[in-house]
Amino acid sequence: TEVVIVDNPDAAGALVAAHILDLIRAKPATTLGLATGSTPLALYRSLAAQLPSGGVDVSLVRGFALDEYVGLLPGHPESYSSVIGREVVGPLGLTPELISVPDGSLAGIRTAGDHYENAIIAAGGIDLQILGIGSDGHIGFNEPGSSLASLTRVKTLTQQTRRDNARFFASEADVPLHCITQGLGTILRARHLVLLAFGNGKAEALAGAVEGPVSSSNPGSAIQLHPHVTVLADEAAASHLA
Ligand code: F6R
Repeated sequence: TEVVIVDNPDAAGALVAAHILDLIRAKPATTLGLATGSTPLALYRSLAAQLPSGGVDVSLVRGFALDEYVGLLPGHPESYSSVIGREVVGPLGLTPELISVPDGSLAGIRTAGDHYENAIIAAGGIDLQILGIGSDGHIGFNEPGSSLASLTRVKTLTQQTRRDNARFFASEADVPLHCITQGLGTILRARHLVLLAFGNGKAEALAGAVEGPVSSSNPGSAIQLHPHVTVLADEAAASHLA
């Protein structure tokens, strides 16, 4: 695992955005794994800023979101389907038909996991997976206790995660109880993992992921099983690393 210390999220965003644009230049039909939450926002802003001058055609880029809440009404502004549209597909001018988010509707939930796995395989796999990390150590929404081999499935959010994400909703009680998330096994199949972490609140989780024992009780540690991982963290998030 390569760990790069950056000054701030903007600096990380600029570095990763430049790398992603190189990737797309070399392979126009690149498939990206897309994280939501606050962490990758600077990266998406940087991509949008670098695109016009970059001479890169993104019309063939595919994307797969990491996860989705279960049971929000269609079009709910905080559903990850809405967030990906608003923060990624719109600003970058990606082709909406090529961007997928797991189906968190109650009607789709029984088959959504298999369907998503098959779609990722049919797309030729994910070239670069963008990851954030939860303060409880989750990646995707693979909460502590997630099998290292898990595939896309429904999970229950921890109270910690619901508390952390309450800022996006009217109250903590409005944060859904369940999610559908790429599994740790799904994430490990991506060809390159780029994990971003900023701020004190991520320091313990990041140390656990990068240096802790590999364990399903510490889901971020699954990255240690992957041959090509790049971590970009600010000083605060890196402060518990040896
Ligand atoms: C989001 C996701 C989560 C977040 C994590 C950190 O798609 O899968 O693992 O990356 O909860 O969230 P933020 O970035 O909001 O601190």
